[in-house]
Amino acid sequence: MDQIKTLVAREVANLLKAPAAELLQWLEYPPNPDMGDLSLPCFKLSKTLRMSPQAIADDLKERLQLPEVEQCESAGGYLNIFFHRAIFSSKVTTMILNQGEHYGARNDGAGQTVVFDFSSPNIAKPFHIAHLRSTVIGNALYRIHSFLGYTCIGINHLGDWGTQFGKLITAYHHWGSAEKVDSGGIDELLRLYVHFHDQAEYDFTLEDQARAWFVKMEQGDQEALRLWRWFVDISLKEFNRIYELLNVQFDHYTGESFYNDKLAAIVSRLKDKGLLEEDKGAWLIRLDKYDMPPALILKQDGSSLYHTRDIAAAIYRKETYSFNKAIYITDYAQNLHFGQCFKIIGLLGYEWANELNHVAFGRVSIDGAGLSTRKGKVIKLEDVLEQAISKVKTIIEKRNPGLENIDEVARQVGVGAIIFNDLSANRIKDISFSWEETLNFDGETGPYVQYAHARACSVLTKATRYKDNVQAPGRQPTEHLGDDDSYELVKLLSLFPEQTRLAMQKLEPSIISRYLIDVAQAFSRFYHECPIITADAPVRQARIALVHCVKITLRNGLNLIGLQAPEKI
Ligand code: ARG
Repeated sequence: MDQIKTLVAREVANLLKAPAAELLQWLEYPPNPDMGDLSLPCFKLSKTLRMSPQAIADDLKERLQLPEVEQCESAGGYLNIFFHRAIFSSKVTTMILNQGEHYGARNDGAGQTVVFDFSSPNIAKPFHIAHLRSTVIGNALYRIHSFLGYTCIGINHLGDWGTQFGKLITAYHHWGSAEKVDSGGIDELLRLYVHFHDQAEYDFTLEDQARAWFVKMEQGDQEALRLWRWFVDISLKEFNRIYELLNVQFDHYTGESFYNDKLAAIVSRLKDKGLLEEDKGAWLIRLDKYDMPPALILKQDGSSLYHTRDIAAAIYRKETYSFNKAIYITDYAQNLHFGQCFKIIGLLGYEWANELNHVAFGRVSIDGAGLSTRKGKVIKLEDVLEQAISKVKTIIEKRNPGLENIDEVARQVGVGAIIFNDLSANRIKDISFSWEETLNFDGETGPYVQYAHARACSVLTKATRYKDNVQAPGRQPTEHLGDDDSYELVKLLSLFPEQTRLAMQKLEPSIISRYLIDVAQAFSRFYHECPIITADAPVRQARIALVHCVKITLRNGLNLIGLQAPEKI
């Protein structure tokens, strides 16, 4: 669609002697097909042209002539442009078939590097459903940027350092055993952590012991580090199982601990810049001028904090990857944290501080209940995923008994349902999770889109005999896609590249997921209204080509948001 939009903008620019770039921005997609395929709000031009919007639209209606444009209408100050359906359909389908898996891809980001800090669960705590949002949003943004030509670097900033490890080591010494930790994994580590908090309400020395252990860790104490490493390994083993289920990869697992040897230099730079202030033995940076509370950099016992490590991490990443943009994906509870960090990095004199972006998202609740680690009431993501897979398997067994590789398909669809649910609304919205909605094959869900893709594949399989027509793009008799249902579908498919760019610019993967629902719904209308296999040869060929385009677009779109596209469900 953007090619023809550019063409129209250029031609109108010619006719009116107006700047094409602005016209391109003003061209809109009308809300319903009666108003054409593109429309130009002429009131935007009336001041410079000193004509009424109506007069401009009337004038353009007479003069705008392009082979791609069949007719124009002037209505209420808008110029409504109707394309020549056959020409447009032919161009779009040819392009999609030619580009295949590259349909929608671009080179916009060539030579630019973007760092994504995402997922980043905390060691020794379960990977819960709130971390899932960071993982799937980050993964989708990573994929979208890669598709648009950016060099992407995915970093898992594991929460593998901090006072909580002091608590864990203390708890392990009091109430733990190696056998129990080996067999119980993260569950046992969580039990110890929760128990620590229960006991600390009565025994006030526990917090001091925990602090002392963490100080030991920071000083390189062998025993402390041995236990810590063990807890990290146990946790990573469990996290990796989840990443495998989700089909998510990282380029680096550089957690908070990675920056330990880089902190001293940062602290002394902060001191040199006169940013640090002592407060009862602790060191902090005042940010009142920027309407933010102070950021604690070193505690009284000299140990570092989350802030300290994030400042070091940003500087390290800039030096190592020379990124053009760094994106941090966490829930909005960390808005202040990142606001403070970015400000401090700016105060250190790094002008690239404005390349740092916090991509915040809303909270997840299940049946209205929040999620918390302290009280031990967590919903474990692995359980949610496993349940989704088994529920989907039961659904498929009924719908399509005897489907080969059902386990793998159930995994792709079950996990896809969970991922899609997380991406279905604007990321900043709080979402609540409901099994019924997430797994509904007829709702606005991942399974619905995946099923549309599988249906397209099945049509293509049935049409194998005619496939040579599909694979010879450029020869599609696309005047046969002029009916409303086919044409609406063609138009939607043509929007994929623009939607992908928009998702990238707004850092909003839900733009893709909602777009995919629209495509799947339009495909379903087309499928019910337009017989494919039984139609006469030229019509059949055009429709098969269109189905092929649907398959390509759905698959590319699903891949962008991290879902797989099984051919049979
Ligand atoms: N581990 C943190 C948490 O679970 C998220 C880390 C986000 N990334 C960062 N660079 N701070 O809340």
